Amino acid sequence: MQIRAAVLEEFGKPLVVQDIDLAGPGPGEVLVRLSACGVCHTDLYTASGADPSGYAPTVLGHEGAGVVEAVGEGVTSVKPGDHVVTLFSPQCRECVHCRSPKTNLCLAIREQQNKGYLPDGTTRLSRGGEPIRHFMGTSTFAEATVMPEIALAKVSPEAPLEVAALFACGLTTGLGAAMYTAKVEPGSTVVVFGAGMVGLGAVVGARLQQAERIVCVDMSEERLALATHHGATHTLKGGPEATDAILEMTDGFGADYTFECTGLVGVMRQAVETARMGWGLCTVCGVAGKGETLDIVPRYLITGRRVCGSSFGGAKGRDNVPELVQRYLDGEIDAEAFVSHRITLDQVNEGFELMHRQDGIRSVIRFD
Ligand SMILES: NC(=O)c1ccc[n+]([C@@H]2O[C@H](COP(=O)([O-])OP(=O)(O)OC[C@H]3O[C@@H](n4cnc5c(N)ncnc54)[C@H](O)[C@@H]3O)[C@@H](O)[C@H]2O)c1
Ligand SMILES: [Zn+2]
Ligand SMILES: [Zn+2]
Repeated sequence: MQIRAAVLEEFGKPLVVQDIDLAGPGPGEVLVRLSACGVCHTDLYTASGADPSGYAPTVLGHEGAGVVEAVGEGVTSVKPGDHVVTLFSPQCRECVHCRSPKTNLCLAIREQQNKGYLPDGTTRLSRGGEPIRHFMGTSTFAEATVMPEIALAKVSPEAPLEVAALFACGLTTGLGAAMYTAKVEPGSTVVVFGAGMVGLGAVVGARLQQAERIVCVDMSEERLALATHHGATHTLKGGPEATDAILEMTDGFGADYTFECTGLVGVMRQAVETARMGWGLCTVCGVAGKGETLDIVPRYLITGRRVCGSSFGGAKGRDNVPELVQRYLDGEIDAEAFVSHRITLDQVNEGFELMHRQDGIRSVIRFD
């Protein structure tokens, strides 16, 4: 079939929206008609050429939600008509990592996915017979996509798909960092650095885990106001002075849990240094620039602070995303508030512009 899709032709150049070919689903694969897709930093990072593992031509996009249109041989967990959220982080339920409760990093299709291929080493996307690669195994800046069954989370059909799409990356990353990676305990003090999609998600996650104090730190007053709306009990302006302010608020000890959601290595260090001596846990969500490293004075670790990273919030996508979407439907997560702009596929480069200017939390492409 022919689909319209936003193709990354050349790094550092705008995406080109055009008609390309999409082949039907092979064994274990599913054809999804997309309804919505959020525009995330990782798309822009790859488009800019900054990501050393990037490739072109490829169809970008990984924050998608849509409806199953057809399934390939052997697919049993979804059927035509099901509403699904796309997962760049799949869950095969069989590999050694999927069987462990300690990680969400499924190993099943990693190698081929990282190279832009479906699990059998080929692509369903092409143009004039020439293959186009699949970005993050999702390629959701398109009217339709073909994805492995293990990379789709079946969600309630009651959730509007433009809201469900946020759970495909940014929102789940923040929520999960608090819920699944750090497992914030009731009554805790939490500090979240950054109030973008990921940081605000962490604020909500900390609230759902019944943290007592949730301090959100950002440079933007407007974003701090959003943090308050979503459950932050205190807000602070970002910068070097924030460290002392946080220590002061915690009797000089630091917070039980800190979350870094900016991608800035200086802020990562601050998140380590504001974690409580004895047991403070610093969770790093941000993606640092190429070649950057995180500087930690070892004394912070010897005195009991711990540091961990979190990919996709530690969420096992097929199990956890439907649960989180249900909590949104139950009124516990005001996910609609994160959708700031609705744009068309043809406006995808404007979506990048809006994100670059920090105009709104999420721009969502609507396909209908
Ligand atoms: N780990 C994952 O799986 C995963 C998934 C998605 C995104 N990310 C990464 O998470 C990070 C955040 O993503 P986002 O979409 O929320 O980004 P964003 O740019 O919308 O938000 C970042 C926020 O940090 C704030 N900030 C800047 N300097 C600060 C400082 N010194 N102190 C406090 N706040 C400061 C900015 O004002 C902004 O509001 C990015 O690095 C992104 O690449 C990681
Ligand atoms: Zn993303
Ligand atoms: Zn697995």
